Amino acid sequence: MTYQVIIPAAGQGKRMGAGKNKLLLELDGIPVLVHTLQVFEADDACTGIILAIHPQDEAEFNALINMHHLCKVKGLVPGGKERQHSIYNALKTVSNDGIILVHDAARPFILKKHIHVLTEAAAKTGAAIMGVPAKDTMKKVENGVVEATVERSSLWAVQTPQAFRVSLLVEAYEKAERDHFLGTDDASLIERLGHPVTMIEGDYDNIKLTTPEDLFFAEAILKKRKG
Ligand code: CTP
Ligand code: MG
Repeated sequence: MTYQVIIPAAGQGKRMGAGKNKLLLELDGIPVLVHTLQVFEADDACTGIILAIHPQDEAEFNALINMHHLCKVKGLVPGGKERQHSIYNALKTVSNDGIILVHDAARPFILKKHIHVLTEAAAKTGAAIMGVPAKDTMKKVENGVVEATVERSSLWAVQTPQAFRVSLLVEAYEKAERDHFLGTDDASLIERLGHPVTMIEGDYDNIKLTTPEDLFFAEAILKKRKG
């Protein structure tokens, strides 16, 4: 099952506090952005990458794309204020139907085998996302006071990639824009259409690099994978 992938990379990495886009930080001598792009570059099922970027990163990102021969990057689109806006800008450039993935540039540890399970599921049902069962006890808290303990067995932590039929994702984004709805992932826009979203069990290693301690976890994951 072939697919195209939108990679939002237009954030500022504020919580990482590196003074620059966290995607330019290096793991094993290679920028996080390149690690992520290389997964898709090496996957025969991936037919094209659309990257949403912040204008301030354009020169540096272009140089990395050339240096690492990332030929599948078909387009660079300007990011928006929020992640959702960045993805919508990219989605507007996707013309053909088929399967589209959305994957955060800040998740460099995604594995090809999981991408393939996800794309097959999206081809069948229209929308499929990856996640992992919650490990911790989860509580609902208001103003520093516990309101309730939420039944953990039905809770999953959601990751990317998320995979969709292009036409369905376009419909979801158009509705979100009309309703001024801002979600924290793409599937939440699909859910608003009343369309079912399939959950695929992913990988606890597929972390998003968000705060400085995530860099230590990332080094450990790299070391484990090298054996
Ligand atoms: N992103 C984007 N456009 C935005 C905001 C985020 O394309 N306006 C991208 C980021 O580059 C990242 C992904 O969305 O690959 C997930 O976002 P997040 O982890 O929140 O990254 P940042 O927004 O860069 O970090 P922070 O929120 O700490 O500033
Ligand atoms: Mg952010």
